[in-house]
Amino acid sequence: MSAPILSATPVSIERAASCLRDGGLVAMPTETVYGMACDAANPKAVARLYAAKQRPNFNPLIAHVSGLEMASSEANLTDISVKLIDRFWPGPLSIVAPMSPNGSVCDLARAGLDSIALRQPNHGVAAALLKAFGAPIVAPSANPSGQISPTTAEHVAADLGDKIDLILDGGPCRVGLESTIIDTRQAPATLLRPGGIDGAEIEAVIGPLRSDDTDPAAPISPGQLLRHYAPTQPLRLNAKAPKGNEVFLGFGPVAGRSEYDLNLSPSSDLHEAAANLFSMLRMADSHGRPIAAAPIPMTGPGIAINDRLHRAANRV
Ligand code: TXA
Ligand code: MG
Repeated sequence: MSAPILSATPVSIERAASCLRDGGLVAMPTETVYGMACDAANPKAVARLYAAKQRPNFNPLIAHVSGLEMASSEANLTDISVKLIDRFWPGPLSIVAPMSPNGSVCDLARAGLDSIALRQPNHGVAAALLKAFGAPIVAPSANPSGQISPTTAEHVAADLGDKIDLILDGGPCRVGLESTIIDTRQAPATLLRPGGIDGAEIEAVIGPLRSDDTDPAAPISPGQLLRHYAPTQPLRLNAKAPKGNEVFLGFGPVAGRSEYDLNLSPSSDLHEAAANLFSMLRMADSHGRPIAAAPIPMTGPGIAINDRLHRAANRV
């Protein structure tokens, strides 16, 4: 049976919090993508979450917190982390820090690591759910592992509706790409995943970032595998125009060609393109034809968009 989709109200949020207390799985809207939420301190619930997503259990989850105070009881925050939190929370920035020995997030949720990733989402529904629940909530993107992240409640219902207990509908996600992840354990801090906050904005606060130059087959952030965000159809990048029966994912002013053509942003707005990326990839994929995507400039949100497109196009 598919989980009910409930529009977010104080009553449905209270029902979701009680479901979390009972060890349930709840789809929660955030400003980036929809997350599949459960009680971070409940290993049984976390095990069910990994199974529902078919996520390898070496890949740790992000703990969502209500703010600095809850974060400080889960991690030993460095000066760099506090600076980043002051400037960017609530918002699409996850901070990796050493876990606190008194933290409540269970080992399984951290994949046994002695570090933890934390973020305070900037979304009224997620904030209200965290307040009602009163403790950290782990929430990976609510898609089967390796597939395209969901930016609407309907995406979640289509992908995982039969594996979760309840879907809170907060409308389409404003940012549309996952949070930026920064490892703050050593200076300079390391960019583990480009995302909703531009690396340049972060560098303006804490100085130059290092990029994760570990072996791409074994990244520091175990979720940053080469193939991810993947449609079922082949995806060709930097295409000036579609070939054959390809569905075209355009950017900027392009002449309309067929009813299958989509445009991430006709006005070349990279924020709009980021917000549209995952839902348009899903739409393109639904036609059962190969997909060609236009070049996207490597500035601002374009960096995270290109990161997702490259992983989506990777066939290995
Ligand atoms: O925007 C987001 O971050 C969304 C929303 C729902 O909040 N969540 C999300 O979660 O994207 P997920 O599970 O799809 O991606 C979490 C990433 C993975 O790449 C994982 O490896 C990494 O965070 N991660 C978690 N804990 C880590 C740690 N201690 N060290 C390094 N990377 C970590
Ligand atoms: Mg994900």
